[in-house]
Amino acid sequence: MAACHGSPVTKQRRFPTKFMFGAATSAYQIEGAWDVDGKGESIWDRMTHMSPGFIEDKSNGDIAADSYHNYKRDVQMLREMSLDTYRFSISWPRILPTGMPNDINPAGIAFYKNFINELLKYKITPMVTLYHWDLPQKLQELGGFANPLISDWFADYARIVFQNFGDRVKHFITFNEPRETCIVSNMFSSFNGSAGPEPFNKSTNIVNYLCAKHLAVANAKAYHIYDKEFRATQKGQCGITVSVDWYGAHTNSPEDKNAAELKRQGEWGIFANPIFSTDGGFPKELSDRIAKKSAQQGYTKSRLPEFTEEEKALVKGSADFLGVNHYTGFLVSATVNKLENHVPSLADDIDVGLIVPQEWPKSGADWLTLTPNSLYNILHQLKAKYNNPVFYITENGWPTTAEFNLNDDDRITYYRAALENVLDALDDGVNLKGYMAWSLMDNFEWLGGYTQRFGLYYIDFQDPARTRIPKKSAFVYKHIVNNRYLDH
Ligand code: NOJ
Repeated sequence: MAACHGSPVTKQRRFPTKFMFGAATSAYQIEGAWDVDGKGESIWDRMTHMSPGFIEDKSNGDIAADSYHNYKRDVQMLREMSLDTYRFSISWPRILPTGMPNDINPAGIAFYKNFINELLKYKITPMVTLYHWDLPQKLQELGGFANPLISDWFADYARIVFQNFGDRVKHFITFNEPRETCIVSNMFSSFNGSAGPEPFNKSTNIVNYLCAKHLAVANAKAYHIYDKEFRATQKGQCGITVSVDWYGAHTNSPEDKNAAELKRQGEWGIFANPIFSTDGGFPKELSDRIAKKSAQQGYTKSRLPEFTEEEKALVKGSADFLGVNHYTGFLVSATVNKLENHVPSLADDIDVGLIVPQEWPKSGADWLTLTPNSLYNILHQLKAKYNNPVFYITENGWPTTAEFNLNDDDRITYYRAALENVLDALDDGVNLKGYMAWSLMDNFEWLGGYTQRFGLYYIDFQDPARTRIPKKSAFVYKHIVNNRYLDH
């Protein structure tokens, strides 16, 4: 019998005891030390040095938050917030400076071992991403993700990561956000001149689709290496993280509903379907659409490179969990085209209209609004579509502008709304095991440079010591994690 005497605590919905709470970062965005101790050049080193004009404040990640030298402080911050998990990425060129497996950098291995040991010392679970966009420049010069050999390069690298860290890391993520990877790798090939051989750097959709296919095969090869060579002894999991925005139908008309579904399949189904659907391969509605568009333009065969039967079988089921990065949402219309698509669409073949209602609160980044119930909506959809696999929210967060402001109430509002959605999803039976806030600290926000801040901790990037200062959101997050409920 519950002797609660009306205590509000017992009325609260609680996060399960084993639910993992953490924060996330990535190597290029925080580490700095871009050429230190034998690290090789990545495509982001090359791009920011060659073409600073592409970055909003002409900055780069040469030093960033200098986490290469400050990793102990980073671990301390996780402890300050009572977090049990840290999602971070390994820099491929820090381990393999040229991308080639016979060229291991021992200092790179030592750095990550020390860092992982520091996490384990405090019982913080490492969740390790193998690829968060910093491709070794040498591999880009061989065609990057447009070259089918990328799957073997990645598999070799993955084996080295599992061999060296798998005794202490039990959660591996092969790729972070294939959608963005494919767009970014293509973007490089079109402007840095050193990359993608002709004709790849001419036709955007083709490169994107090739990338989607090659990346799926690369993920599958790495997964099967883990499964066959390491799982029995290491007993961990290997998954993939996909970026999933919410795309709702603008009206209840069948046209808008179909447009929304097509958009979802073009943005995330193209990556998730080959792995998580029962049929495997690219989503049917997407394949049909691309074939139709190709035909309209006089091509007798679709420009979408389908998987062979063998590849389809290899890729199907090649993840133990689906990591979800979620930030924002849009309404989709078959007819209205009110908005320039801020997130460049992977599939330009899908020319639907996107709408952001005025009343959705705006963040410090033009592509991100506080979209009502978006996290719940996507989890609900993914659960139905892929038969409720194990999920982790591997990123979720809110950007503010560059000004110094520790009272980040808008970020708190965003996190509280998202965590309310997490509780709704858990009530709904979604197999969700953890939540990682993006980001542990302010960092290099890719093309936004340091003009956008996502951190729970503030960093002044002019300060040589890169001192970390908790924002109000860090205290609120800690409070929620410790209590395991949201108070109102
Ligand atoms: C997702 C990416 O994985 C991360 O690197 C980036 O900083 C955030 N989105 C915010 O844009």
